[in-house]
Amino acid sequence: KTLRKAVIAGNWKMNKNRKEAKALIEEMKPLVAGADCGVVICVPYTNLETALQATEGTNIKVGAENCHWAKSGAFTGEISADMLTEMGVEYVVIGHSERRQYFGETDATVNQRVRAALDAGLNVILCVGELLEQREQGITEEVCGMQTKVALGGVSKEELKKIIIAYEPVWAIGTGKTATAQQANEVNHYIRTVVGGLYGQDAADAMTIQYGGSMNAGNAEELLAQPDVDGGLIGGASLKAADFSVIVKAAS
Ligand code: G3P
Repeated sequence: KTLRKAVIAGNWKMNKNRKEAKALIEEMKPLVAGADCGVVICVPYTNLETALQATEGTNIKVGAENCHWAKSGAFTGEISADMLTEMGVEYVVIGHSERRQYFGETDATVNQRVRAALDAGLNVILCVGELLEQREQGITEEVCGMQTKVALGGVSKEELKKIIIAYEPVWAIGTGKTATAQQANEVNHYIRTVVGGLYGQDAADAMTIQYGGSMNAGNAEELLAQPDVDGGLIGGASLKAADFSVIVKAAS
C-alpha cells in the first residue's frame, strides 16, 4: 500500500450551480490544504471554469464527470476530452454506473472514452461495479473483472499510470448502504489481481484503486484502512466541505 498514493475524489454529479460551487470550494480549500493524499473534485461541465479558477494554486485538482470518445464532430450534447484539457482540466470520471444505467454506456463505449481521455492527456477515474442481483448471483468478480478488462483494452502499461480504478458496487451508491470494509477490500484486491494478470504485478501494486458507494465521514477511516483500498470516490459526502475534509484526513 505504501507503494501507491491514496486519492480522494469528489463526484458532485448533477449538483451545484456556479455560485454554490465557488462557495463550496472556498470552504473546502483550507480544510484540505496540506493533505497527504491526492484531492480531486469532479464537477458538472458548467462548473469547470469556476472550479479551475477557485482551486488555482491549491492542492485540489479538477475533473469532469465524463467525456466523449471522438475529438470533435456531430455528437450533440457531448464534450470531448480535448475540450477539457484545453481548459486545464486534469481528471475525468469514465464509466460511472449512472452513465451505464441511464445513458446506455457499455463496456465498449467506456473503453472508447478511456482511450480518448488518455490520448488527450487526462487522468482517468474508471468506475466498475456490480449490481445487487449480480452480487446475489455470486458473479461480482466476473462482472468487475470483465468491466476492467474491456475498459483497459488497448491501454499500454505506461498509460495505465494515468488511470485510477474506482470500485463502486451499484447497490451502495447513494443508498446509504456501504459495502463492508471487508467486501470493499476483497473486490479491490480482485481487481488488482486482474490488473496484475494484464500488466504484471509491479503495475498492479502501483495502481490506485478506490472504493466508492456511501463512503462518508463516519465510515471512511475503516474503509481506507484496508490494504487494497487506496482512496475513495465520494458522491453525497463530497457536497459538504466538512464531511469531505474528514474523509481526506482519513486518507492522509
Ligand atoms: O461516484 C461516487 C458515487 O457514485 C458514490 O456516491 O453518494 O454513494 O457517495 P455516494
